[in-house]
Amino acid sequence: MDVIEALKSRHSTRAYQPKAVDKETILKIMEGANSTPSWANTQPWEVFVAVGKTLDSIRSRYREHFTNQVPLNPDIPRPQQWPEAHQERTREMGAAHLKLLGIDRDDQEARAIMVERNLNFFGAPAVIFLCLDKDLSQWSLYDLGSFSQSIMLAAQHYGLNTIPAIMLVAYPDVIRTELKIPAHLNIAMGIALGYGDSDHIESKFITTRRPVAEFVRISGIE
Ligand SMILES: Cc1cc2nc3c(=O)[nH]c(=O)nc-3n(C[C@H](O)[C@H](O)[C@H](O)COP(=O)(O)O)c2cc1C
Repeated sequence: MDVIEALKSRHSTRAYQPKAVDKETILKIMEGANSTPSWANTQPWEVFVAVGKTLDSIRSRYREHFTNQVPLNPDIPRPQQWPEAHQERTREMGAAHLKLLGIDRDDQEARAIMVERNLNFFGAPAVIFLCLDKDLSQWSLYDLGSFSQSIMLAAQHYGLNTIPAIMLVAYPDVIRTELKIPAHLNIAMGIALGYGDSDHIESKFITTRRPVAEFVRISGIE
């Protein structure tokens, strides 16, 4: 698959087939992503992948936390506020998603089920947890973002689907214990990985983008 095709065909996948992802494929994806550039070649990423029984165990502890209404507590906290233009895009995306699923925005029960689906890792057979040393600066988040995209494009190449989701790292205490992640690492982001269920309603959700002309300014040529 060429890069443009991978870029255009990638969408956040929120429903997966139960089919397992083999270790060899996960390692090939990581080999590809390992070429990601980083500031002064610091390569700050530390990666923990949960599959099989390990993932089952994390899932079940997440379910308990959700049932007991344990507050979500990601290592890198959610921003409290967005500038208005960005907030508006979030609202548009959220409204389009709820509309597709036929959910009223005031339907708290249905919205709780959406949260639960996040915390169930959307049924994915593998979850990649991306960590950064706590002493690193914001600069390394740029590197981790690039690394994430590399993973997602490589996954497309190997016929797999993904979703990057902060909700996957909502309970870092659980992930830290189950995967024996050292205390000096922040669990920054999760990427679910698997074979998407293209028949599922969630797979029909395709987000829009701003036109390129709205955000690109090229100076010096016509
Ligand atoms: C940093 C980050 C965090 C995200 N967290 C979530 C999440 O917790 N739950 C979710 O359903 N989607 C999450 N997403 C997916 C975005 O909603 C999605 O990437 C965006 O709407 C664009 O859609 P696309 O990925 O299908 O192109 C996240 C994406 C990023 C990059």
